[in-house]
Amino acid sequence: MDVALREVRDDDLSVFWAQMNEPEGIHMAAFTAEDPSDRAAFDAHWARNRQDPAVIHRTVVGGSGEIVGHAAVFGPPEEREVTYWIGREYWGRGAATAALRELLGAVPERPLLARAAADNAGSIRVLEKCGFVVTGRERGFANARGEEIDEVVLTLVG
Ligand SMILES: CC(C)(COP(=O)(O)OP(=O)(O)OC[C@H]1O[C@@H](n2cnc3c(N)ncnc32)[C@H](O)[C@@H]1OP(=O)(O)O)[C@@H](O)C(=O)NCCC(=O)NCCS
Repeated sequence: MDVALREVRDDDLSVFWAQMNEPEGIHMAAFTAEDPSDRAAFDAHWARNRQDPAVIHRTVVGGSGEIVGHAAVFGPPEEREVTYWIGREYWGRGAATAALRELLGAVPERPLLARAAADNAGSIRVLEKCGFVVTGRERGFANARGEEIDEVVLTLVG
């Protein structure tokens, strides 16, 4: 599907919040907020990040301006990392791959890291299609699973 990235607007946040509360997405992402349904914590998190010049947030929009999801680059200079979330109804249509490609074109910083639950095959595939390679494996506590799980670290060099 055709997507474009634009600056995040206040009105986008309710859509992101709904998308980030879809049970299938929460399970897949695994490393989520402790309580994704806590709207006050969500709003505080986004308010902080939107004021932080080191966080590059973009809204992913479809051809009719519909909000498909969001994508971001964040983290300290030596550990810049990408993240993204696509609303359930848009999965499987190439939206994440197209959005990440556009983000990588707009942000020249390298290397870039990404992390995914080891069983998040979709996200790992998206990253590999965009040139990331697996460079590490870790264990981490995943709020959405209530336990420690395997995590894959990927790196984009060029
Ligand atoms: C993971 C996610 C971003 C994928 O988004 P998407 O728009 O459906 O991905 P795309 O359509 O661009 O798919 C890219 C590739 O991944 C594959 N893929 C997507 N979902 C998959 C899944 N659940 N299992 C296996 N492969 C999958 C597609 O088949 C495609 O591969 P192909 O081109 O070889 O056929 C989306 O499911 C999502 O936002 N999930 C919840 C949040 C999340 O996990 N974010 C990432 C945190 S690390």
